[in-house]
Amino acid sequence: MRIGVIGTGRIGTLHARTLSRHREVGSLILTDADPARAQELAHRLGETAAPGVDEVFRWGVDAVVITAATAAHAELIGRAARSGLPVFCEKPIALDLPGTLQALAEVDAAGTVLQMGFQRRFDAGYAGAREAVRSGRLGRLHTVRAMTCDQSPPPAEWLPLSGGLFRDTLIHDFDVLRWVTGREVADVYATGSDAGPAMFREAGDVGTGAALLTLDDGTLATATATRLNGAGYDVRMELAGERDTVVVGLDDRTPVASTEPSGPPPADKPWNGFLERFAPSYEAELAAFVEVVRGDRPNPCDGREALRALRIAEACELSRRERRPVALTEIADQDRPPRA
Ligand SMILES: NC(=O)c1ccc[n+]([C@@H]2O[C@H](COP(=O)([O-])OP(=O)(O)OC[C@H]3O[C@@H](n4cnc5c(N)ncnc54)[C@H](O)[C@@H]3O)[C@@H](O)[C@H]2O)c1
Repeated sequence: MRIGVIGTGRIGTLHARTLSRHREVGSLILTDADPARAQELAHRLGETAAPGVDEVFRWGVDAVVITAATAAHAELIGRAARSGLPVFCEKPIALDLPGTLQALAEVDAAGTVLQMGFQRRFDAGYAGAREAVRSGRLGRLHTVRAMTCDQSPPPAEWLPLSGGLFRDTLIHDFDVLRWVTGREVADVYATGSDAGPAMFREAGDVGTGAALLTLDDGTLATATATRLNGAGYDVRMELAGERDTVVVGLDDRTPVASTEPSGPPPADKPWNGFLERFAPSYEAELAAFVEVVRGDRPNPCDGREALRALRIAEACELSRRERRPVALTEIADQDRPPRA
């Protein structure tokens, strides 16, 4: 199997390395808007670099992995779909609903596969939480507390391209909240703070954000995120029911220090970022994609899932801007297929 990898930045480098080692993948064609970057990675991995996206399609591949900057995703998905190729794409599909819907329409029209990179669905901790909900071990779920805390902010110039904290970061929490609970979000109230480094204010973004989400069965959830968590990379989800409580992301590397005399000692080696914390999940989602391309398993996370997560992020942005609760039905109203 030959796979084209478009975008060889942080996550593209990781995915290309993983695919290059996969025994079902014969070769890769790598490309990037910065051709030297793709060349350098191809050289390191013993793979081939293409000077541009056109060549990836012209030279012929069996599938495409899109790890370019977010703004390029929708167009590249459309292009791969029109070529009849299965696609794995990093989240999100686009920074807005029309772009997302356009890409999904192309995939539907072509009848191709689009697998989204929500790697938390492949994390053992989140899978355990999902099982705890499904098995009834927790009893009726009443509260979920989700959080994503980056240790240090991305480069200032990256922020305006990211879509903001809710669409870029909390979208993972929104997706996995739906996946773990099996419920939809009914409404949100969100806020954010741009206190701290000026880069967030200058980008029109927030460095810390919080959302209160009501699920369609009345379960209450909070989702918080920050780009400034000095102690380390901290991603957790607590689920509390009438019978039991479980927590994802609590282990000997969780970057929290207990102030209780009998509490556990602080982590020796706290997680320092997503690449390390989710390394097995990134590998598992790509192994799944290879199976999907071979026709050996159904798509574990299709584009509609990404649309639903984006809707929640859009509702949060609207709520934050207008300082009011927002029902998801307000956002769903915009979800009409684009005119042919
Ligand atoms: N699932 C996750 O946990 C996760 C983590 C990080 C990033 N991401 C997503 O992955 C994507 C890339 O993020 P990153 O952190 O690797 O960014 P990055 O800036 O490190 O890399 C992006 C690369 O894309 C290239 N690029 C931009 N436009 C292109 C185009 N039209 N064609 C080819 N190459 C193009 C850039 O030159 C750059 O090398 C983003 O959409 C981001 O949201 C997901």
